[in-house]
Amino acid sequence: MLDIKFIKTGNPKPIPGPENPLVFGTIFTDHMFVMDYTEGKGWHDPRIEPYGPISLEPAAMVFHYGQEMFEGLKAYKTEDGRILMFRPDKNIERANNSNRRLMIPEIPEEDFLQAMKELVRIEQAWIPTKEGTSLYIRPFVIATDPFLGVRPSFTYKFMIILSPVGAYYPEGLDPVKIWIEDEYVRAVRGGIGEAKTGGNYVASLAAQMKAHEEGYSQVLWLDGVERKYIEEVGAMNIFFKINGTVVTPQLNGSILPGVTRRTCVELCKAWGLPVEERKVSVQELEEAARTGALEEVWGSGTAAVISPVGHLRYEDEVFQIGDGGIGELSQKLYDTVTGIQLGKIEDTFGWTVEVK
Ligand code: COI
Repeated sequence: MLDIKFIKTGNPKPIPGPENPLVFGTIFTDHMFVMDYTEGKGWHDPRIEPYGPISLEPAAMVFHYGQEMFEGLKAYKTEDGRILMFRPDKNIERANNSNRRLMIPEIPEEDFLQAMKELVRIEQAWIPTKEGTSLYIRPFVIATDPFLGVRPSFTYKFMIILSPVGAYYPEGLDPVKIWIEDEYVRAVRGGIGEAKTGGNYVASLAAQMKAHEEGYSQVLWLDGVERKYIEEVGAMNIFFKINGTVVTPQLNGSILPGVTRRTCVELCKAWGLPVEERKVSVQELEEAARTGALEEVWGSGTAAVISPVGHLRYEDEVFQIGDGGIGELSQKLYDTVTGIQLGKIEDTFGWTVEVK
């Protein structure tokens, strides 16, 4: 159990009211959690202090070699005033998997959970309650040794910041247009694709800008070797409903193991739908789209929740999915996931954790 020191802000910010059209990731709450790591001493000095700039040496290793891990999860306020987090155990497990891959020291699971809970409890007035909003939790670790040689750092900072958010995409639940990228790749097996780390996101920017210029919101990546098999969207995992079967690319080492991805798989299975986690080639998709077998496409992610896809572009072809609107299963998944997150639907899976 961490002994977390609390340093209260003397300068609280105004909390956005329900009239504020929250967009994703622009407003931050009054406090943040910080804990340091020193080799030989372990994690130490856990504290919750006023949110604000931090001081690092320009030589801090994170700036040069990208040794960092981040996570993303959300807290919600229910109609009867309870505070719920959604599957934090899965984010903590993934964070430590990322840490191991990135040679960052692991964070004890119970300390990680306690830190998030205490920060959310202190900042509970910031949890927005309007439809489609939540309090986004962003834990991250950065390497802080001032050193220009390439090796794992001996010192780190673990921080958690909070942001009241609305929909990740400006489209909200309206279907997004996705660009299947055939030039750049995001990750390769054996690389860091399954770790949640900044490097995977910077790798996506060039293709994302290219797609944006063509009017597409996101890039769907193909595998890094053959550029033949579907991987993920970067900010989301991807699902297809083909002839009644729910299909999603199998976790192969280069795909991020999404918590919402797992939730979709578990819900669809519980509803008795056939679910296949397997290789999906872009050719199979093209064929399914042409014959009308491709009934629905949606992305899943913590930030994006369930994001229906209306159009897919591959090379010079654009495929409309169904009538280009929100598919029935995508809508049902969205309603169920957000219903459980907000405590409106009974959580028979034991996915929510109450912050008391
Ligand atoms: C999330 O869904 O929480 C993520 O971390 C994706 C990020 C691009 C916003």
